[in-house]
Amino acid sequence: MALLIRALVPEDDRSAFRSGNIDLDRFFRRFAGQNQFRHYVGVTYVAVDGDSILGFVTVAAASIELASVSPAARKRLPAYPLPVLRLARLAVDEEAKGQGIGSALLRHSFLLAREMAGRLGCVGVVVDAKEDALPFYERYGFEALDVEAGQLGDRPEPTPMFLEIGAIPGPGRPKL
Ligand SMILES: CC(C)(COP(=O)(O)OP(=O)(O)OC[C@H]1O[C@@H](n2cnc3c(N)ncnc32)[C@H](O)[C@@H]1OP(=O)(O)O)[C@@H](O)C(=O)NCCC(=O)NCCS
Repeated sequence: MALLIRALVPEDDRSAFRSGNIDLDRFFRRFAGQNQFRHYVGVTYVAVDGDSILGFVTVAAASIELASVSPAARKRLPAYPLPVLRLARLAVDEEAKGQGIGSALLRHSFLLAREMAGRLGCVGVVVDAKEDALPFYERYGFEALDVEAGQLGDRPEPTPMFLEIGAIPGPGRPKL
């Protein structure tokens, strides 16, 4: 498999992608393109092998409140909204799960966070983790953010998680 991670382009055929999560699949088919090409609210990166899309990650610039980070981080950071990279969606095709594609997409978002830190400022990565995916993010050091969450209805609410820029695994700190 020759895996390449690159930004989504309008010509990409998104119709065959199936992660097993209908909300994520619908987002990818119907909204990822217009969000990126028309509304500029986020950018989707796809993991491709030739013409096949095996996974995607959607990221956006966002901010978090100081009060929501850990007490240790709170001491270090200023008391105004803090710039972060939001990992808005992440999914891998059912046929391609368990082959390292999800972690490759996550590592790609870490590169983007470091780039953002060096160019614009970014204190870390946030993700609203679905219950099933919590252990996946914990493996990389994400910790639950301290926000007030009200459980609505029967569906489990996602857990907001945060990984500080300095705690991102792998080489290199943001270039200044
Ligand atoms: C979660 C998801 C993105 C992982 O993608 P993947 O390509 O299957 O994951 P990888 O093959 O890169 O797995 C990397 C490691 O994490 C582990 N892992 C994968 N999914 C996991 C999960 N849900 N919980 C705990 N560990 C998990 C793998 O076992 C692997 O461990 P190893 O390196 O020791 O072998 C994928 O299962 C998916 O699309 N799930 C449905 C959508 C979803 O939940 N998205 C996240 C929304 S917040």
